[in-house]
This record gives sequence, C-alpha cells and structure tokens, in this order.
Amino acid sequence: MICNTLVALARHRVVREQVKADPSLLHLVIPEVLRHDSPIQNTRRFLAEDALVAGQRMKRGDAVLVVLAAANRDPLANPDPHRFDIFRQNRRIFSFGAAAHACPGEHLP
Ligand code: HEM
Repeated sequence: MICNTLVALARHRVVREQVKADPSLLHLVIPEVLRHDSPIQNTRRFLAEDALVAGQRMKRGDAVLVVLAAANRDPLANPDPHRFDIFRQNRRIFSFGAAAHACPGEHLP
C-alpha cells in the first residue's frame, strides 16, 4: 500500500502538488489508492457444499477466486472506476475482503 501510494503520487502530478501544499490530504489519497490499485488483488473461497454459483454448477471443496481488484473497479460500486479521484464520494473498497475472514488490519489506526 505504501509503494502503491508512492506510485500514485508519481503518476498524478496534480494530486502530488495538492498533497505537497496540504499533507493532511494524504488521508484522502490512501483510500483511493486502496481502491484504484488494490495491494492484494484477490482472495479465495471454497465451497462448503455442492451449489450453483453465478450459474456455474460447482462441487464441495471447489475454489472460487474472488478478484477484489476487479470489484473495486466495478462501475456499479464505484462510478467512473478507472478515474483516480481522491475526492470520490461514497467510495466502496473491497481490498480487505469481507465477512468472517475479512482482514483485521483494515481497522488498525
Ligand atoms: C493495506 C494493507 C492490507 C491489505 C490490503 C490486506 C488485505 C487482506 C485481504 C484481502 C485478506 C483476505 C480477506 C478475505 O479473504 O476476505 C486479508 C486477510 C488477513 N489480513 Fe490483511 N491486509 C492488509 C494489512 C494487514 C495487517 C496490517 C494485518 C495485521 C496486523 C493483517 C492481517 C490479516 C489477517 C490475520 C488475515 C486473515 C484473516 C482470516 O483469514 O480470518 N492484514 N488481508
């Protein structure tokens, strides 16, 4: 996440200038980096029982690769998803996974 933030600042000159002028804006940059350039691109889930998943018949034990980075760029979750916008409203971030095995690191200060 730290490296991705440095890359984002190198790529987006206007944002870099804004952060230089007001370092407190870094608190807006980091969530947009987490969304736009997910440090962890995917996670996995395994079927507890045979089931139909998104129209696919799957068996107990089968793995589903959950591409968190793609979810972050889903236009239904984040409109105009490829745009790097630190002022984005109602940002949805999937980079920490979800539910019982979601990353506990998300809530560290
Ligand atoms: C930007 C930083 C981080 C990102 C993007 C990240 C992302 C993730 C992701 C995607 C998962 C899998 C979640 C799922 O499958 O639903 C995960 C799991 C986990 N993360 Fe992180 N993580 C970060 C930092 C941390 C930190 C700092 C810690 C601990 C201090 C941590 C501890 C864990 C643990 C213990 C799990 C396993 C949870 C479980 O399986 O129940 N993570 N993390």
